[in-house]
Amino acid sequence: MEANVTLLTWNYACTVGVRAMDDQHGILMDTMNELRLAVVRGAGREKIFEVLDRLIEFTRMHFWSEEQLMEQHGFPGLAEHRVEHQRILAQILQSSHRVQQGDKLQMRPLLCFLRESYIEHIEGPDREYGPWLNEQGIN
Ligand SMILES: [Fe+2]
Ligand SMILES: [Fe+2]
Repeated sequence: MEANVTLLTWNYACTVGVRAMDDQHGILMDTMNELRLAVVRGAGREKIFEVLDRLIEFTRMHFWSEEQLMEQHGFPGLAEHRVEHQRILAQILQSSHRVQQGDKLQMRPLLCFLRESYIEHIEGPDREYGPWLNEQGIN
């Protein structure tokens, strides 16, 4: 069981090229792995929701950090990027709320949804600010 669980965790090697943001993306992935492990190991609702809440709080903080960084350096795509953050956060809140309201804990669709949302965002819009910030001397 344990070996299978390890194989299923996400290894995230993609970088955007800005160290602080890459570190935060790593923490997001670690927290998602922690959530996934809790689900696979049959942890109780309380533990699962504790990790889920932490993931959501960290996501808020991370989005805020990125927006601050983009704002400080005048990144031209900020407005669009911010809208995308708001959209993702609203979807995540809605999906996790739905799961928390349900009698039966339906975590697997939520896990898939979270993974897709984060990876699509990091590999898409997040990789646009990386090179641009690098040119401003931010690494
Ligand atoms: Fe990001
Ligand atoms: Fe972002």
